[in-house]
Amino acid sequence: MGFGARITGWGSAVPDTVVTNAEFEGRLATSDEWITERTGIKERRWGGTTSSLSIEAGNAAIKRAGLSAADIDLLILSTTTPDQAVPATSAVVSHKIGTSGGAFDLNAACAGYVYAMVVGRAMIGAGVNKKVLVLGADTLSRITDMDDRGTAILFADGAGGVVLEATEDQDDFLGWDLGVDGSAQPILYADHGSYLRMEGREVYKKAVRVMVESAEIAMHRAGVTSDDIALCVPHQANIRIIEAACNRLSIPMERASVVLDRFGNTSSGSIPLALVDAEERNRLNPGDLVLFSGFGAGMTWASAVVRWSGN
Ligand code: UT7
Repeated sequence: MGFGARITGWGSAVPDTVVTNAEFEGRLATSDEWITERTGIKERRWGGTTSSLSIEAGNAAIKRAGLSAADIDLLILSTTTPDQAVPATSAVVSHKIGTSGGAFDLNAACAGYVYAMVVGRAMIGAGVNKKVLVLGADTLSRITDMDDRGTAILFADGAGGVVLEATEDQDDFLGWDLGVDGSAQPILYADHGSYLRMEGREVYKKAVRVMVESAEIAMHRAGVTSDDIALCVPHQANIRIIEAACNRLSIPMERASVVLDRFGNTSSGSIPLALVDAEERNRLNPGDLVLFSGFGAGMTWASAVVRWSGN
């Protein structure tokens, strides 16, 4: 067999500023009760830049892998909120961290982190790279209309990522699925220099369907069923979306990682934040199968089944 990939390091970062649901009350026609019941979010973090959060998360992941930055031979940064239009934020992040080789940004909205992991695995599988830093970072507060109660309460800032290393003896990436349906563009978009606009209910309905279908395809390709999944790491948009998807997949909520109550929807940051949180709570053991599943603007979706082997 050719090269496979293992996750050998992980890290995350969130800004210091905590914004509670109570802080929206009075300013917007909303309440802590409505936000908690309809979304599961209690508080979120706002602040930092996409590059500053990426650098912190990336340095932590490299340290956890026991590597030095120069060992990394490719950096992939999933983001929809780059610091600047040009250059790619990954260029600045690569420079500040000190990685070797190439670096590029990838934009597949909230599904982008799983896209980026699969691309990283593919570059290793093709024999092009040996050690890939895959980061997901967004600062959605910068493109959120704080006068729109339908979005202001949801979106937030955060980052996370993993180090993927080439292996010759085993491949921890067992199956994956990537998809897109651009006909859904009108239900979630941001024009250049403008705020995110969303038809929440439409996104909600499609989200559950695409997550379930995509996760089933990834599990089928991996040759496993939901009974084999030790931990589900879904995109953190709404607790009701996670519950509905897990229910249809027959994965009990005890096997899902949920961090949206503390961090809100951080787009590309959400899946690695949920992965790192689960690891820090000792919820992952070597050999466990992890199901990643995300969806986002596009509409995009992506799922992957990855064996956790620790480091
Ligand atoms: O990362 C991917 C991007 N986005 C998502 O995944 C979001 C997906 N969608 C959702 O999470 C949910 O649709 C929302 C949380 C955005 C909304 O929850 P919902 O249960 O789907 O509510 P709804 O849009 O059907 O609205 C119900 C009512 C409406 O009032 P009327 O028309 O019934 O009078 C809304 O105007 O709730 C109203 N509403 C609010 N009320 C209090 C909408 N936002 C708020 C709010 N506080 N913040």
